[in-house]
Amino acid sequence: MLFAATLSLLALPNVWAQSSVADAYVASESPLARAGMLANIGPSGSQSLGAFPGIVIASPSTVNPDYLFTWTRDSAVAFSAIVNQFALGIDTTTRGEIDDYVASQVIVQQIPNPSGDLASGGLGEPKFNINETAFTGPWGRPQRDGPALRSIALITWANFLLSESNTSYVTDTLWPIIENDLNYVAANWNESTFDLWEELNSSSFFTTAVQHRVLRQGVSLASALGQPQSLVSNYETQANFVLCFLQTYWNTAGHITANTGGGRSGIDANTVLASIHTFDAAAGCDALTFQPCSDLALLNLHTYVDAFRSLYEINSGFALNEAVLTGRYPEDVYMGGNPWYLTTLAVAEQLYDSLIVWNSQKSLEVTSISLPFFQIFDSSIAAGTYASSSSQFTSLTGAIKTFSDGFVAAVANHTPANGGLAEQISNTNGTPVSAVDLTWSFAAALTTFDARKGVVPASWGAKGLSLSCAGEPIPQTVSVTFNVDATTIFGQNIYLTGSVDALENWSTETALPMSSADYPIWSITVTLPANTDIQYKYINIDGSALTWESDPNNEFTTPASGTFVTHDTWR
Ligand code: NOJ
Ligand code: NOJ
Repeated sequence: MLFAATLSLLALPNVWAQSSVADAYVASESPLARAGMLANIGPSGSQSLGAFPGIVIASPSTVNPDYLFTWTRDSAVAFSAIVNQFALGIDTTTRGEIDDYVASQVIVQQIPNPSGDLASGGLGEPKFNINETAFTGPWGRPQRDGPALRSIALITWANFLLSESNTSYVTDTLWPIIENDLNYVAANWNESTFDLWEELNSSSFFTTAVQHRVLRQGVSLASALGQPQSLVSNYETQANFVLCFLQTYWNTAGHITANTGGGRSGIDANTVLASIHTFDAAAGCDALTFQPCSDLALLNLHTYVDAFRSLYEINSGFALNEAVLTGRYPEDVYMGGNPWYLTTLAVAEQLYDSLIVWNSQKSLEVTSISLPFFQIFDSSIAAGTYASSSSQFTSLTGAIKTFSDGFVAAVANHTPANGGLAEQISNTNGTPVSAVDLTWSFAAALTTFDARKGVVPASWGAKGLSLSCAGEPIPQTVSVTFNVDATTIFGQNIYLTGSVDALENWSTETALPMSSADYPIWSITVTLPANTDIQYKYINIDGSALTWESDPNNEFTTPASGTFVTHDTWR
């Protein structure tokens, strides 16, 4: 008895200490993260290494990995943070950077690139050279979250300027860029896309969620600017479809399936990032838009965090109510597969956002879905609504605040003295791994710290939405028959693998076995996404001996509907 009491007394201050570590870290890291982010913006950022004005480098790292490029996603995430802070009066020193960013995106949108030009899909290109020319090497493209994230940042800026009556700049300069992005999102949301980690070509929750958000914002801005009613109603119609599609990612196993392709568990920081990038406090804990405090998003968070507890050596020895370091997804092998700064911070941010809503609505609801999450903190809690006057509300919100601070403290414990935030944290010894001074890591620190302080970003219209799914265009597929003329010897078989989920994403282990019924023609029929660029190769497998076809990859674009047949000869 005495022994147990002593133990729990010892354990408690340990958990409380997380909050003081987080307090100290927020104070010391805030100016360093801000400076680190601005240092990566051209032309005058001290680490921007020749980036043109307003161009954001992902990181100054030039080898292993080379991140001296500008990604539309990373840049938009950084500028969302900058613009939010400006609009809320937290940091109004960045007008020059914002103006430069806007001017740079006018140019970047027009650069013809391997995804197309402005009118033919070029907005889906994920990254560019920092001198505003196209990056033409092989890459996972298109990535359709980019235009959505960029227009989220620019619409936030436009709304602020409109509140200051600066209508002409919004109409003449911002709207044309925003309209390009909105039209791209409205036209392409149901086409397949590489995910935000640039690996899987399918549909992706994060991408769909930010596309939904920006179409809603597009409806309001286009109306406010007096744009044609036909444009406004197209954004609205598409937004309604996207919201319907968003629901289909929920998985009865208790989490969001991050990508429709890829054959993974589907547990992925993609979903937590989606929740914080679509936070709208006015919507409360709405589950249709997967708000941070919605029961679906909380159970998803719980499943996501727990997937990393026993995965990384560095996470061993923590109780279920203690924070751990989290990564992109459990199957990740990039740079060895490690926790990331920005994903661990995203967990804290989702929970701080939740606390903002519970405290402002003065109640917290535990549903049968979110119960396992709340039981981490109180094993006897039951489903129900707890008012802020209840002891359950006080103890749950207190424990969740401490838990959230633990994620910030975990990041603090692995931040070097100069405050630099790399991309990853070694899964064994906690030292920084991969790209140094990652812009996105710094931006994540700033938004997490703001959420911890209770800062509420502007609403985007998530409140009061309902589903209206009749006539929804389901993503289209076509039937493709692959034929290859290949002479083989006894024991050899021909397999197919390629760039999309249905072609096993270049896997050799799960490559698709072909039929030799019409030997020497080997054949297989597969369902593929319509209107999609497909790359593929045949492989010859004989026991453990595997031979690829010679380069380059075979390639074609699937038609909009119907069937398609290839007639290839083994190379
Ligand atoms: C670089 C991408 O940026 C990263 O996300 C990915 O994991 C690796 N390439 C491997 O495909
Ligand atoms: C790899 C990440 O997976 C991707 O999301 C990011 O855009 C690039 N690195 C650049 O930071």
